[in-house]
Amino acid sequence: MCGIIGVLGDHEAAPVLVEALKRLEYRGYDSAGIATVNHGVLDRRRAVGKLVNLSDKLVHEPLAGKAGIGHTRWATHGAPTEGNAHPHRGRTVAVVHNGIIENYRDLKDELKGQGVTFETETDTEIVALLTQRYMDEGLSPVDAAYRTIDRLSGAFALAFLFDGEEDLIVIARMGPPLAIGHGDGEMYVGSDAVALAPLTDRITYLEDGDRAVVTRTSVEIRDANGDLANREIRLVRAEATRVDKAGYRHFMAKEIDEQPTVISEVINAYVPAGADAIEMPGIDVDFAKVDRLVMSACGTAFNACLTAKYWFEKLARIPVEIDVASEFRYREPPVVDGTVALFVSQSGETADTLAALRYCEGKADRILGIVNVPESSIARESSAVLELHAGPEIGVASTKAFTAQLTVLLLLALKAAGDRGTLSADQIADRLAALRGLPAVMNTALDLGETVERIAMAVSEARDVLFLGRGTMYPLAMEGALKLKEISYIHAEGYASGELKHGPIALIDTNVPVVVLAPDDDLFDKTMSNLQEVIARGGKVILISDERGIGRAGDGLWHAIPMPKVHADLAPILYAVPAQQLAYHTAVAKGTDVDQPRNLAKSVTVE
Ligand code: AGP
Repeated sequence: MCGIIGVLGDHEAAPVLVEALKRLEYRGYDSAGIATVNHGVLDRRRAVGKLVNLSDKLVHEPLAGKAGIGHTRWATHGAPTEGNAHPHRGRTVAVVHNGIIENYRDLKDELKGQGVTFETETDTEIVALLTQRYMDEGLSPVDAAYRTIDRLSGAFALAFLFDGEEDLIVIARMGPPLAIGHGDGEMYVGSDAVALAPLTDRITYLEDGDRAVVTRTSVEIRDANGDLANREIRLVRAEATRVDKAGYRHFMAKEIDEQPTVISEVINAYVPAGADAIEMPGIDVDFAKVDRLVMSACGTAFNACLTAKYWFEKLARIPVEIDVASEFRYREPPVVDGTVALFVSQSGETADTLAALRYCEGKADRILGIVNVPESSIARESSAVLELHAGPEIGVASTKAFTAQLTVLLLLALKAAGDRGTLSADQIADRLAALRGLPAVMNTALDLGETVERIAMAVSEARDVLFLGRGTMYPLAMEGALKLKEISYIHAEGYASGELKHGPIALIDTNVPVVVLAPDDDLFDKTMSNLQEVIARGGKVILISDERGIGRAGDGLWHAIPMPKVHADLAPILYAVPAQQLAYHTAVAKGTDVDQPRNLAKSVTVE
């Protein structure tokens, strides 16, 4: 989604803004722009496409000035054109915005009625032009901005820059995150700590409803009621913002390879060394008293929740209700006493997941958040938080956050099983021992990268790919399909193996690769029947299984990827690796933009 940066500095702002925008690229964008004030004069430059286009433009048409704002736009209202790119401006104000102004049509009609003309198709332009109107009526820049903010509904992070004001940025937050970075005699604003990392490690996060007046030496924050608000300055850990590729060609490849380390971090965080116990301080839930678990999330995080449903129901015998967050609240599901609600999100900012969480507020006994960004909105609004400890995930396709989510969820399910007495201490200890061994097993799986790469070359020729799985491999089939389609643009679907005969089998022909995820477990024989049905129709089966499973599958496979043997409950975490590698190498073979695939945003902060 859109990224915002602002600088009140001691040096030329334009290079600092462009550099910070580069760090926001991972969020996904299709145009970019900056505005500065120089000798009192406000000016802007904008360009469609990658940031290099904006940089090129700045070479030919430089922008001087030590105060500025910048933006990467992910189009919502209006095509990705230069005219629709931010900053938007009135005569003496420029605005950058992340989110959606829901009442922009009403406000636009109002201004049109007063003879104001609009140049863009965006919802954001109204913010600049309404502020301009209030300034024209005599309000100061700050009052005009605040009056405008009070009239907006929807989701927004906003930064305003004014003609004639070289030491002023006004900002506001309602929904999408916005942070202030404190420098020495300099001040910054940004969508996240990653953007601000080289500038400062002292960060203040705005709360929803906050607005602030920022100068080089001061910050005055007011809450939604207009009262002065005291928001803490936090020191951001360097590792929380480290975003280099470390020699890899793509962030996604690096993040896939980081997974054994991430799993170790998760285990270290929640399983004390040498103990067979799970410690989740702050969770404060006795699952013996829980009647029902409600889970919601989007995309990959949803697939992690769907996997966990199997664990919670089978291991802890807790009924689980689960839905994608974009549907959850519209069903108006009853959330009754005895319910614990669980929301999973890498970014912690996904608008639908946050809305689902808010729907459960005051209804569920406890709201648990599982997030990778501890300062995020979902973390702040949950009664208790489990961190993923995955480090910054930059590739749009979620990989290490997914396996971290699975690991945390499995640990939570085991804790629940302990509380409810549905697994014995020995049974839990067995699984914890297996989990401790998982990073090493995962390294063995990662070593198969070249095998997967060869198979991916062939898959890259396909137009459609099916993924099949049974039990916990079913959500993983959905995840494998999601990964493949989002970065290679090949149409892919994940199905429960047993559903094959109920429709998807009609798609099978000699051109459709079918990826079957099937460890040699209790369900293996059932899945093999489905695999034979595919082979009988000329389908090209890629079987991901262990040596024994591949041996038992017999002849007729197109390809096989041999996984190391692992405890059945851990298989979805391990088998995520070849599914991710297959998507990655297919995308590389097709030459797509792996880390920033078209149309996608890393953190989806609008509905
Ligand atoms: C994953 O590869 C996707 N890019 C996407 O589905 C993502 O998982 C989803 O948008 C949820 O994001 P979150 O975890 O930050 O809430």
